[in-house]
Amino acid sequence: MTTEFSLNGERVTVEGDAQKPLLWVLREDLALTGAKFGCGKGLCGACTVQVDGVAVRSCSFPVALAAGRSVTTIEGLGRDGLHAVQQAWVEMNTPQCGYCQPGQIMSAAALLAANATPSDADIDAAMAGNLCRCGTYPRIRKAIHRAAALLAAEQEESAQEIVPPAEELEP
Ligand code: FES
Ligand code: FES
Repeated sequence: MTTEFSLNGERVTVEGDAQKPLLWVLREDLALTGAKFGCGKGLCGACTVQVDGVAVRSCSFPVALAAGRSVTTIEGLGRDGLHAVQQAWVEMNTPQCGYCQPGQIMSAAALLAANATPSDADIDAAMAGNLCRCGTYPRIRKAIHRAAALLAAEQEESAQEIVPPAEELEP
């Protein structure tokens, strides 16, 4: 079966078993190895990618369900340099071994797209399905707050670019 979808902004076509998990299509067929295999059962979050902006566990997501949709992986999150979440992760020195971190970042970015100012409780609820054996949870939480601040600053900056200075608006 042929499945077509958008991957990090580019249209891709894959052939094969429609029930093949998206994770293996990404890693084996499309050579994108950022999403990691952990449990293979939707329980650890290491394989998290976004489909239409929503965090999904790609190990348990048949590729057929991606047809006609927009898939974003860690490789495509920051199209023009680092995404604010990645920047915050670097600033906070968040990873330890790093294995879970692509999934953590994809979940965090999806959270912030839906909720620009998450509370600690919001973060804990949204990130509960992303496990970290190294216990980086406190740094992840701090990094998400930092990313929220970076995104707010980015938005303010782009609003200032759109609105002309006051003197230009006067007759
Ligand atoms: S590998 Fe997908 S949730 Fe664990
Ligand atoms: S940083 Fe090692 S598993 Fe999360």
